[in-house]
Amino acid sequence: MCGIIGITSNKPVSSAIINSLKKLEYRGYDSAGIATLSDGFINEVKSEGRVENLEKNTNIKNMIGHVGIGHVRWATHGIPNTINAHPHSSESVSVVHNGIIENSTTLKKYLVSKGHKFKSQTDTEVIVHLITELQKEKNDFKNSILKMLNQLEGSFALAIIFNDQPDLIVGARRGSPLAVGYGPNENYLGSDSYSLKSMTNKISYLNDGEFCIVKRNQIEFFDVNGIKLNKKILKLSSNEQNYDKGDYKHFMAKEIDEQPITIQNCIREYIDNINNDINFYNFPWKMNDISSVILIGCGTAYHSCLVAKHWIEELTSLDVSIDIASEFRYRKNRFKKDNLYIFVSQSGETADTYAALDLCNKNNMKTASIVNVIESSIARDSNFVLPIHCGPEIGVASTKAFLGQMLVLYILILKISYLKKDINKNLYIEKIKSLKELPKLVEKTILTENKIQSISGTFTEAKGSMFLGRGLSYSIALEGALKLKELSYIHAEGYPAGEMKHGPLALIEDGMPVVVLAPRDDYYKKTISNMQEVIARGAKVLLITNKSKEEVVSENIWEKIEVENTSYDLMPFLLTIPLQKLAYYSALKKGYDIDKPRNLAKSVTVE
Ligand code: G6P
Repeated sequence: MCGIIGITSNKPVSSAIINSLKKLEYRGYDSAGIATLSDGFINEVKSEGRVENLEKNTNIKNMIGHVGIGHVRWATHGIPNTINAHPHSSESVSVVHNGIIENSTTLKKYLVSKGHKFKSQTDTEVIVHLITELQKEKNDFKNSILKMLNQLEGSFALAIIFNDQPDLIVGARRGSPLAVGYGPNENYLGSDSYSLKSMTNKISYLNDGEFCIVKRNQIEFFDVNGIKLNKKILKLSSNEQNYDKGDYKHFMAKEIDEQPITIQNCIREYIDNINNDINFYNFPWKMNDISSVILIGCGTAYHSCLVAKHWIEELTSLDVSIDIASEFRYRKNRFKKDNLYIFVSQSGETADTYAALDLCNKNNMKTASIVNVIESSIARDSNFVLPIHCGPEIGVASTKAFLGQMLVLYILILKISYLKKDINKNLYIEKIKSLKELPKLVEKTILTENKIQSISGTFTEAKGSMFLGRGLSYSIALEGALKLKELSYIHAEGYPAGEMKHGPLALIEDGMPVVVLAPRDDYYKKTISNMQEVIARGAKVLLITNKSKEEVVSENIWEKIEVENTSYDLMPFLLTIPLQKLAYYSALKKGYDIDKPRNLAKSVTVE
């Protein structure tokens, strides 16, 4: 993980680096650091914790260098402290790194034998000593960079400054993302375009294996063999997004409330209102060439795949399987030419998801991605991209992107189903019409907030909790449990309601809060019976169902929330809302850092 930035300019760069680091904090916030170069000296300042701690460090204002690099860390090798914070520097070189150097132990042994002394526990520090060692060989500058890169195994994005190169930053990419920005009398490197957006809208991206030499008035790109490359300059959309919290205390709260608008925007992008049809421009394959869909993602994105699996089974004749990216990438997969692989990722940079995509590309498979960040690596390297159009998501716990991912998956599945003649035109149009009602229903469901707020108190006092459901609701139960554990650090387990009797029922004890998702669908009666079983063993049940004239026939339910009514297919969108709110209010009550929960990061670029 981690975020890196580099700026070479005709003016001091430290405050611009700090500002960009604040935008990169979604990638890690264990520690932060900056190094600048002035008069042939490298000055380094590092702090534990947030960028705001770094900013308060009084040494920052003495940094007057016109060339500099910065870093926010999500610890992999070595505990999060100041010594392990990046940059790592010697007298002659300073390095920031995102990724993992897998052969760091071997390299360290070699470098120690050459007399190098290590200060930190990080894998990154080997790069500093390796460069310093190579500098002794008096190679040509570019060749020594190539030599150094060739000795590194693992994944990395790097930004490096040198004490004898007053106007220059080297950037290199293998596995972890790296963007290059073009400015007036200054140029930039950054882990993403978002961190550079306030300085430039002109961007190029490094591909795997490439490196670049960034000077104030010139940028040169090279391939893995050191051959010069021409790069396309992309212009980022001028469509400025609203990145601040507005009147909200947390991005997460804002992002939950934005959902009616973000799904409305997404529907507008894909649905032709006049003809009640779905448009996917440039869908590159014939329907007859696809017989099986494989959905792949991590975390919340994986949960959207779980939901989509049900939809594919219900609405199409396609075979479907789903996979967690970190599992898929190392398994013996059966690559068949009529498989369509769909990668779901908010950031479009998750290392495992990218590796799974790369594997499919190398096997010449059909690849599509559903992403939020359209300039991301996953979007760029898949054959077909479907953006979720929900705007930047800053809170580490995914909310509006989850609804966006489910929405685009649903729209895609509906269209495929219609094109394959698995559903007829009337049903297709009926489903599109229901979909258009969704933003209004999500908005109404969001208004159940007050009840959730008081309910959350019981969860914060509990040792653990369970989330139960069947069918589509089981996937949402998993997402609800994930949200609660990642934000409130309360143990939460999502389980298929019918499976409780095979073990987890033993966990139920007096007063344990259990969320039961039971919309009035074909599973309803079964789920209600499972709910009775946990109530009988002392659970405090929060039942989440949909509004109905029919009362729930059950006794001793602790609390009940009724979401709006919609079709069976679309119920996951509404059931998710109270669970997002439950996680939010539980973390709020506990006083935790809601937008940046401990040990996590928004974009996970390590495996
Ligand atoms: C991290 C985030 C999750 C996210 C997951 C996958 O763990 O904290 O919210 O679901 O990564 O991220 P992606 O960007 O691929 O959707």
